[in-house]
Amino acid sequence: MLISTESKNCNIILLTLCGLTTAYGTVIVLSNWRKNRQLRKKALKRRENEQLCMQQLLEQLANNYTKEEQAEILGLNAVELVSAAQQGKFSPLKILETYWTKAISCTKATNCITSVIKVAKAEAQELGACTDPSQFPLFGLPVSVKECYGIKDMDATIGLMSEINNLDLDDCVLVKVLKSLGAVPFVKTNLSQITFSLASGNPLFGDTSNPHRLEFTPGGSSSGEGALIGGGGSLLGFGTDTGGSIRFPSHLCGICGFKPTCNRLSLAGLHGPIPGHVNIATTIGPMARDVDTLVLAMRSILCPLMFELDPYIVPMPFDEKLFGCTKPLRIGYYVDDGFNKPVPAVQRAVMMAKKHLETSGHILVPYKIPNVERAWELFMSLCFADGGKRCKEILKNEDIDPVLVPLIQKLYFPKCLGKLGSFLVNLRNCWKSPRIAKDFSLLVEKERNISTVWNLEAQTFEYKAKFFSTWVQPEGNLDALIGPPSAMVAGPQKHFEDTTAILSYTALYVLLNCPAGCVPVTKVTQDDIDALKNYEGHFGDAWDKNTKDACMDSVGLPVGVQCITKPWKDELCLRVMLDLQKSVGLL
Ligand SMILES: *[C@@H]1O[C@H](CO)[C@@H](O)[C@H](O)[C@H]1NC(C)=O
Ligand SMILES: *[C@@H]1O[C@H](CO)[C@@H](O)[C@H](O)[C@H]1NC(C)=O
Ligand SMILES: *[C@@H]1O[C@H](CO)[C@@H](O)[C@H](O)[C@H]1NC(C)=O
Repeated sequence: MLISTESKNCNIILLTLCGLTTAYGTVIVLSNWRKNRQLRKKALKRRENEQLCMQQLLEQLANNYTKEEQAEILGLNAVELVSAAQQGKFSPLKILETYWTKAISCTKATNCITSVIKVAKAEAQELGACTDPSQFPLFGLPVSVKECYGIKDMDATIGLMSEINNLDLDDCVLVKVLKSLGAVPFVKTNLSQITFSLASGNPLFGDTSNPHRLEFTPGGSSSGEGALIGGGGSLLGFGTDTGGSIRFPSHLCGICGFKPTCNRLSLAGLHGPIPGHVNIATTIGPMARDVDTLVLAMRSILCPLMFELDPYIVPMPFDEKLFGCTKPLRIGYYVDDGFNKPVPAVQRAVMMAKKHLETSGHILVPYKIPNVERAWELFMSLCFADGGKRCKEILKNEDIDPVLVPLIQKLYFPKCLGKLGSFLVNLRNCWKSPRIAKDFSLLVEKERNISTVWNLEAQTFEYKAKFFSTWVQPEGNLDALIGPPSAMVAGPQKHFEDTTAILSYTALYVLLNCPAGCVPVTKVTQDDIDALKNYEGHFGDAWDKNTKDACMDSVGLPVGVQCITKPWKDELCLRVMLDLQKSVGLL
């Protein structure tokens, strides 16, 4: 009796609090919107100029090559293309111009490119004059990079209007290394504002679409790479991953993406929202249509020049022995983390992958993720340890993208009320879902003090130890894991805006700093959708309902599987991904 009255009262207070947050968030968004007229004009102009430039380029190139010539180039994978270029079959300029044409036609459909990298032409011409192409392992290969990669004389805004025309003085380390290997960085691709969302959007460049279904999201935050590569406009691209930003769009766009162990690839010269995170460290990584290309990229980039340019990168060349290992591996598999229940298509994909890997000779054993809720709590607490201060600071004078609004509303929630709000929502009866209550209380928390942060970090170390203790098993230790990359497949953008509900499958391996990659395995079938009709999730709450609604219209869309190994075993992770793709085949 008592509980139910209490819970009714709580509900009313909670509804009021929610109303307040929504109202407050809306006021912030609107007041920024009003203040920013000048900046917005500048942003619009920049975008128009860029689109004009792309249109002109397209027209200039229209008569250079026949359709057959272009089709021949576009039909090759990265390994074949590099080899053909080295043998002089196609000049680097011809390859570049073909991919520029293709990429610009992709962006017309999906809005995936933010800028054309104009110096690429001079670079391709210079490569064309070189007498010994075989010394360049990526000779003539056009490579796309996410907008936040620094490139000399170009801006890198991460979707912030205040960063327009703030030009970089130098190329970032990765771009320097790519050029030294004979690759040709040729376009910059779109991202979600401040890279903090798994949806795709920023008010500066607009929304990017899924190449398989234009009205759906490609996933974020490396959305432009996902859309461009999935649409055939690039063979190799580079994204960044802080919570799933490489693996999630790869899964939604039907391509392969790899997040290496932190400090294997250099981040120097990249632009990001929050420098200084230790346990929530951003990594960069390759995205491509096939695993062979990811391997080609990693094998080439782990080179002396990168170790020299960035002394904090572990000077560990590509481990051919580990990659080439042919012994059967013990691989744990799981179809569900017990927190976000995957839709049937995603579960089926993992079971298919299990069968395929068994056929390739590996030993697959059932695995259970230890206490993923704890990992998620640690991730969110560390990610927003400053109470969202930094996020708010950089967005202060910006138009805030709608996909960030649910997050921003919580971060802007008045901290004094936040305490009361958290107290109430933590009375679990009040909210229909303990995890949504927890999410609210984690995000409205004020700035954590140093002792609290050190405590969180210590608990993260404990979680890491506990996680890997489950890999030690009486029948033999695990070498790798496979599991879902997400509970969802692609759907309408609006279902992907409350990010925290989505990232449990990918953020876990950021917290653990494991190499992890995504491989497309199947497509959603009508049977999957029929099974989805009975989906209730583990909590039957708003997040579960959202997962179901998002995926209801997804027949034919790609579904990936995530492969994971221990830190520093990047090459073994790529091995598992390659074995999986070899037995599944290219979709
Ligand atoms: C293609 O056309 C452009 C513009 O007319 C020209 O600058 C470029 O050199 C041409 N490329 C080749 C390979 O002929
Ligand atoms: C980038 O994405 C945003 C939102 O996702 C979209 O509005 C914009 O038009 C895109 N811009 C480009 C140049 O792709
Ligand atoms: C730090 O924050 C925790 C949790 O809010 C609190 O219990 C503790 O007293 C604080 N420590 C200091 C030194 O303020």
